[in-house]
Amino acid sequence: MKTAIVTGASSGIGAQISRHLSYEGYALNLLGRDILRLTEVKNSCQGDNHQTFNFDFTKTEEVQSFSQQWLKENSSPLKALVINAGNINRSSFNETPITEWEQQFQISVLGPISLIKEFWQRIINDKTTIITIASTLALKPIANTAAYSSLKAAMVNWSTSLAAEMAPFGVRVNCICPGIIETPIHGQTDSLWHQSINELVPLGRSGQPDDIAEMVSFLLSEKAKWITGTQQIIDGGLHNLR
Ligand SMILES: NC(=O)c1ccc[n+]([C@@H]2O[C@H](COP(=O)([O-])OP(=O)(O)OC[C@H]3O[C@@H](n4cnc5c(N)ncnc54)[C@H](OP(=O)(O)O)[C@@H]3O)[C@@H](O)[C@H]2O)c1
Repeated sequence: MKTAIVTGASSGIGAQISRHLSYEGYALNLLGRDILRLTEVKNSCQGDNHQTFNFDFTKTEEVQSFSQQWLKENSSPLKALVINAGNINRSSFNETPITEWEQQFQISVLGPISLIKEFWQRIINDKTTIITIASTLALKPIANTAAYSSLKAAMVNWSTSLAAEMAPFGVRVNCICPGIIETPIHGQTDSLWHQSINELVPLGRSGQPDDIAEMVSFLLSEKAKWITGTQQIIDGGLHNLR
């Protein structure tokens, strides 16, 4: 039975990635903080061999204790690790407290790094394929996103460097940079929100979690066996065409 770990699986993009992977026969390990929403996502997945784990990625000791326990108790091949958890707080550079920077870096940089270090030998043994979810803001930052844009840029670079180190072991690492995807991260979206996004995005609509989940499935598949160290921009043309 092939196994996958998905962080940030309780909502939005991570929930849809999880559903897709369940259709492809993975036994899922769904990570997040909200156990009720994790359970809802688990129930919406195909199959009944999935597990949920709720803990906070900003707490290194929780990441480490999850990893150590999971590694002890789970022996089926870990074929996919999707690092997706994250949130965005838009605020001006000067009004973003240092604690906010620290928290955001913990979620997208230090938490995942702790997890991967704990899983290092297992990733090599199982030839786990790793996917990280960054953002187009990593490549082209805009105002009021200094913390978010820079932690996502760090994510792009640690993913690429990791891909170089892992390639000799046959382990692939790819990073997806989504544009504007309609999920709870944007709060309540209304018709005005849709109108402004439809006008902004060259392909005329906001992204859906499915747009990202399809790429994750592809990158994990045999079809992508010669693809590693890449950044896949999925944004309806916003980054390159505007
Ligand atoms: N939506 C977009 O437009 C967009 C664009 C570019 C990149 N992204 C990236 O895509 C990823 C998924 O975002 P989304 O849009 O699907 O947002 P979402 O619906 O708000 O989901 C965020 C997920 O991250 C988890 N998470 C947040 N903080 C966490 C923490 N401290 N510890 C553990 N888990 C935590 C949440 O878990 P709980 O809710 O259980 O706490 C939730 O499962 C994020 O990394 C985001 O930066 C999104």
